[in-house]
Amino acid sequence: MARLIDGKKIAAQIKEEVKGEVEELLAQGRKICLAVVQVGEDPASSVYVRNKQRACEYVGIKSVLKKLPDETKEEELLAVIKDMNQDDGIQGILVQLPLPAHIEEDKVIRAISPEKDVDGFHPENVGRLCIGEKGFLPCTPAGVIKLLKYSGIEIEGKECVVVGRSNIVGKPMSLLLLRENGTVTVVHSRTKNLQEITKRADILIVAMGKPMFITAEYVKEGAAVIDVGIHRKEDGHLCGDVDFESVKETAAYITPVPGGVGPMTIAMLMRNCVLAAE
Ligand code: GUN
Repeated sequence: MARLIDGKKIAAQIKEEVKGEVEELLAQGRKICLAVVQVGEDPASSVYVRNKQRACEYVGIKSVLKKLPDETKEEELLAVIKDMNQDDGIQGILVQLPLPAHIEEDKVIRAISPEKDVDGFHPENVGRLCIGEKGFLPCTPAGVIKLLKYSGIEIEGKECVVVGRSNIVGKPMSLLLLRENGTVTVVHSRTKNLQEITKRADILIVAMGKPMFITAEYVKEGAAVIDVGIHRKEDGHLCGDVDFESVKETAAYITPVPGGVGPMTIAMLMRNCVLAAE
């Protein structure tokens, strides 16, 4: 029976630390403001944006929300970002993804000043991560590393398997595990013998976007399983990419959904906002 990795509790600890750091910065006369841009009314995005703003309020970071309609033109969004880049009252900028199909995400991410890129998505920050230079780390993968460390799970020398190769999670996740001296394999939708490879993992990170796909048959006895997925089931409940009930019998550690990786993403965003203000 696996031990539960309580992301909510660990995130709360991190937010307490950040709260103290914010107090210090404000006492020194520094400003910390996060600008959040949301284009359209995607319900999941609205929930995430609200949670990010709540976290800001809790730790003492000012936040401003720029809500734009679905039909906003790409140039209009780029102009908003340009203004925010030049605004000394804004230290961090976050454009909530996904964007409507007529807007090129890549172009928008590149438009954000790398010094204000608290998501860590700008190619400059991605490049820094790749070569081990200091920069903004993407919040979800950075949160996963924190979860492992807080839970006393050693990464060095371990077989780490990342399921998924997205720019937001899979790719940066693999780089961060490598930085921690893990032996890293990335598997994806075209991988042959997926199960054979995931079953080798001491640390299995799942970010494939398929509800409850990973069952006990994919997991080695005693593995640590981190579930990055989040989906709403027909009955209204949330679930991850991992079949929790099945895998909890095989794994030594497992994250729940909700209450695992999600709260950590937000806690790490608060961390990045402090970095941006410094
Ligand atoms: N959409 C899903 N995850 C994220 C994230 O970490 N940052 C942003 N900006 N959008 C997202």
